[in-house]
Amino acid sequence: MSIQIIRPALNFQGSVTLPGDKSISHRYAMLAGLAEGTTRLSNFSTGADPHSSLACMAALGATVVHNPDKTIEITGTAGHFIQPEHPLDCGNSGSTMRMLAGLIAPHPHHFTLIGDHSLTLRPMERIRKPLAAMGAEIHLTGGDGASGGHAPINIYGGPLHAIDFDTPIPSAQVKTAVLFAGLQAEGTTSLSESVRTRDHSEHALRAFRATLTRASASAPGHLDRLSIPGHQKLHAINATVPGDISSAAFFLCAALLFPDSNLILDSIGMNPTRAALLDVIAALGGRIKVLNVEEHHGELIGTIQVTTNPGGFNGTTISGSLSAQLIDELPVIAAIAPYTRDGITIRDAKELRVKESDRIALVAKNLKAMGATLTEHEDGLTIPGGQKLHGAQIDSGTDHRIAMAFSIAALRATGETEIHGAEAAAISFPEFFTHLDTLSQR
Ligand code: S3P
Repeated sequence: MSIQIIRPALNFQGSVTLPGDKSISHRYAMLAGLAEGTTRLSNFSTGADPHSSLACMAALGATVVHNPDKTIEITGTAGHFIQPEHPLDCGNSGSTMRMLAGLIAPHPHHFTLIGDHSLTLRPMERIRKPLAAMGAEIHLTGGDGASGGHAPINIYGGPLHAIDFDTPIPSAQVKTAVLFAGLQAEGTTSLSESVRTRDHSEHALRAFRATLTRASASAPGHLDRLSIPGHQKLHAINATVPGDISSAAFFLCAALLFPDSNLILDSIGMNPTRAALLDVIAALGGRIKVLNVEEHHGELIGTIQVTTNPGGFNGTTISGSLSAQLIDELPVIAAIAPYTRDGITIRDAKELRVKESDRIALVAKNLKAMGATLTEHEDGLTIPGGQKLHGAQIDSGTDHRIAMAFSIAALRATGETEIHGAEAAAISFPEFFTHLDTLSQR
């Protein structure tokens, strides 16, 4: 396990281009693997997770070429995955395991999906249930505990039939597993979400020339329904992956910590289902200027500038559907909460407990190690503002977002902070510590 030392900074300034969005990279990799033809991707995520998806595509018969100019070419299987020789290794990636399960279940082979220790603990019943309702034979490991079964997962694939599904958990991964299976099933699958989650799968499917419709809710309180006809064929695309806004979140929050910050983020994904963070940054007192916006395959890509208010920054409350939309950004928002004027309360975020780690417990433990007081709830945290933190030994729990969140908290602490298990950052953002060092003014 590696230790990274973070020293306090005086200011946060500069410009940075973020590596490609992790969520979009997974989807492009998987759909390219199923499609006919060669997909060319620029700015593919450098994180380890989407590379697990790429490796699974290669094991399923796609050809994956990493070009010297960093573009990736994936020649797909034209709808026919092969029987893999070995278990499909999803590494640390819940997105790979859950979305891949839906993608491969209609294929007539036996697949075993495995992952690392953290992924093996994560709940998989949420995808087993709808895929089994479509006719897939899926066996999880365990399953008598409160959180249901987990990996290794065995899938005995074969023809599936459409279902009408209402997602009980706000999860884009579950939605995607059902859409990817529905794309290849008999009949038209329809799906309604309890909360509108990130819609990258919808955009990616359309980019690969699948048909998919969204019917607006018929009455207030009712939710939109997605419908996807089955037996569709996909066609390769050329695409540039937008910069990852969840990686940008660390630097956006760092900018808030100093009165004279000036940060420019280039080519960043601004899909409205991911951009709630920008509203939170504005609510906390950051000034955001959108310098330009373009659209690629339904995804918005823009350049933004963030400056700060010399008067310090406010607090806020995050709850309800906002918590689901900000799920990946909540650890870093919580990590800067003690420095706000009025504190931050996070509720309705129980899903944080079943991410790469129990992120509520680990945020609470590490903030306390830095001298903060707070209240831990089953579904969130209440963190008072106006606190001073000191350097401490941080336990990342081998969770990338915890390692990075506390590197940001360390910028305004007194003394040095040691991030234990700092190498976890490479799961989504291998360049994080290099950029952090360049942007932090000391
Ligand atoms: C993701 C969805 C979210 C998120 C994860 C990526 C995706 O997970 O936390 O990092 O790419 O669809 P859930 O679907 O479990 O909420």
